[in-house]
Amino acid sequence: MQSNAMRGNGGPRYRHSVAESAPYETIRVDKLTPIIGAEIDGIDLSRPLTNRQQDELHRALAENLVIFFRDQAITPDQHVAFGRLFGDLHVHPAAPHEPGRPELMIIHADKDSPRANGEGWHTDVSCDVEPPMGSILYIKTCPPKGGDTLFASMYAAYEALSDRMKAYLEGLTAIHDGEQVYRGLYANHGVVDKASYPRAEHPVVRTHPVTGRKGLYVNRGFTRGLVGVPRDESEGILRYLYEHMENPLFQCRFRWRANSLAFWDNRCAQHRAMWDYWPHTRSGNRVTVAGDKPF
Ligand code: SIN
Repeated sequence: MQSNAMRGNGGPRYRHSVAESAPYETIRVDKLTPIIGAEIDGIDLSRPLTNRQQDELHRALAENLVIFFRDQAITPDQHVAFGRLFGDLHVHPAAPHEPGRPELMIIHADKDSPRANGEGWHTDVSCDVEPPMGSILYIKTCPPKGGDTLFASMYAAYEALSDRMKAYLEGLTAIHDGEQVYRGLYANHGVVDKASYPRAEHPVVRTHPVTGRKGLYVNRGFTRGLVGVPRDESEGILRYLYEHMENPLFQCRFRWRANSLAFWDNRCAQHRAMWDYWPHTRSGNRVTVAGDKPF
């Protein structure tokens, strides 16, 4: 996969050319855009998956950053088992979970909710020293309209930066802090706050451990500032990067139906959930796969 960026009068123009992917044998992969997102068909996640199917799902995720499945009737145990195919499971430091099942995070908003999960652009739990590699969201109850999730490629956002900006960001790190995000956030779910929440320092440009591609790794949700950079400069640079990475050119948008499932790679994609369906209910579970220390 090769890309380059050109900057003209109209802002960043991203030239993206996708290397021809080898054919898949056990699944069908229907890309939503050339840059990010694909629907996967021809697979039943309630049944044990062959090694070949698992390998092809890994490849589809690496090539598309987020993959979507429709009409999957899976139990909570099958959801958890699917997550375990990709690694150990991550337990969220703050969010509510199903009773006795810390690995099954609750994603729920209804007419009485003060907010919905993930309403701003973010990478899941980037405040962890080892942030989650991926998240697998299964939505069981959908509003009649709305409740889409947007995803953005941080590879594309990085590749579309000018060479000067890439050189400036090289070697920089940023602080990601859960304290201001999580304290009090889930009080409406009856969650009692912890004494402290995770905080970590990560590279601003992250290399994906599987694809070797570089992507931006700062987000509006958790990133508090660039390390070793004056505060006003840090705020200016981060503001620029956030506006840049929100260019629709780098995005896809997924319209949920009941029993759809999305699996996104937090190492190279950000996402944002739309809460445009009040007073309707949107509800499901997220299983999160553990990751490693960004480099
Ligand atoms: C999340 O950030 O995990 C929630 C995403 C969504 O509800 O679409």
